[in-house]
Formats: sequence, structure tokens, C-alpha cells
Amino acid sequence: MKKILIANWKMNYGPIKAGAWVRAFRRERLPKDVDIAIAVPHISLAAARASLGRASIPALASQNSFWAEEGPFTGEIAPAMLVEFGVAYGLAGHSERRIHLGETDEMVAKKAVALQKAGISPVICVGENALQRKKGEANKVVRTQLQAALKDLVGDGRAPAIIAYEPVWAIGTGKACAPEDAKSMHALIRGILEKKFGKTADNIRIIYGGSVDARNVGEYLSTTGIDGALVGGASLDPRNFGLLCRAAVIA
Ligand code: 13P
Repeated sequence: MKKILIANWKMNYGPIKAGAWVRAFRRERLPKDVDIAIAVPHISLAAARASLGRASIPALASQNSFWAEEGPFTGEIAPAMLVEFGVAYGLAGHSERRIHLGETDEMVAKKAVALQKAGISPVICVGENALQRKKGEANKVVRTQLQAALKDLVGDGRAPAIIAYEPVWAIGTGKACAPEDAKSMHALIRGILEKKFGKTADNIRIIYGGSVDARNVGEYLSTTGIDGALVGGASLDPRNFGLLCRAAVIA
């Protein structure tokens, strides 16, 4: 399975800086055997697309989108609008949105379906927080989040989604989850996917996120069952992210 690296800029870089980031990143030497995408703020999609020119790498991703196709939903963005910029992947259910905006499993499920219908690959984010892990509830939390998010997705042979395991306690903390721990959670996720999608599950990438950087990315990607990474802080500098992309593949 081809691995994928997705940069998540979070709430960083308006159009001017986004354009500069893409131009700088295009000068990086990039590995060919890995998919690379950048999840940029909606407001910066046009600038990122313009700076890409005819280049198809990195692909564009959204950080969020709404479930309805159009209508009276002030401030929201429909997947079809993202398609106009050639967005290929769409994050759904990032823990920061669950925590700060009250996004529920039901909302994440609806967002994932809407993305899929628009032809955008949903990147469904799941993960336990520190307290849940401490109490031994990590598996239960991830299982519940994932089963809810997958509820209405259809698997038609093609991968219906990408799953990102992002333990909340590892995000932005420098306390990355040990690859072996991530591996066992990925195995649990793989089992849930197989039950839901049968053979189609073989095409679904399960990626890890949480304090991934150029130094540790190789270790994650060479761990069985980890099919890529979702990268926050270490993607903000285009040269650093270029370095990370190269380090991911040499491993
Ligand atoms: P960091 O890489 O900054 O820990 O963020 C991870 C993340 O939340 C990516 O979506």
C-alpha cells in the first residue's frame, strides 16, 4: 500500500504565507513512492492551488467541511466547494474540533459521508485523551469513535476513507506515542475496518499523528500497520517538511 504523509497546518497561514510555503516546498526534492498532501485553511486553498501551478504534488486537503450540500449554514463550507480547488482529501473529526467546537461522533459520521459523496477521501481522525489512556479506556474510546464515524460510509472496492490515529496526549506535546503502542492501536483499527468493509479494508490506509517529526517519521513508517503520518508542527516550515518526507521513505 502506498504510504501517505499529510501536513496539517491547523490555523496557520493565510493566502500570502500559504502561497510562499507552496512555492518553497516545490523546490524540495521529494520521494516518488509516497503520497504527499497539505491540509490548509479554507481561505488559503486558492492561493495554494495557484502556487502549485501544474504541479500535482502536494495534493490539497481540507481541515474541515460541512455535511450538507448547500444552504443556510452560515460560515460553513460544503465538500463540493472544496472540489473546485481540486481538494483530494478532507480531514473529519480532528480532536481539536471535537474539543474546541463540540464536534460529535454523529457529526463526524455525516461529514465523512458528505466528503465521500463529493469524491473527496475522508481522513477520519480518532484518538483517546491522556485520562482515557490512563484509565485503560483507549481501545474502547477509539472503537466507539471509529464505528460511529464509519456508520454510513460505503466500501465499493476503493478505499472509502483514510483513518488517522491521533492520540490527543501526543498532539503538539513532543510526547509521541511509541511506535509499538501505535502499532497495536492500528491493529485494532484494522480489525474494525475488516469487519465493516471486508476485502475493501485492505485498501484503507491507517496513519499515525502526534508529534511526528523528521527524526521519528522513519520509525513510524517502517512499523508494520502504519501506512503514513499526519503531521502538525513539523509541517509548518516547508524545508523541514521536505526533509521529513525524504526521511519517511529512506527508512
Ligand atoms: P503535531 O504534529 O503538532 O503533534 O500535531 C498532530 C496533529 O494534530 C496533526 O493533525
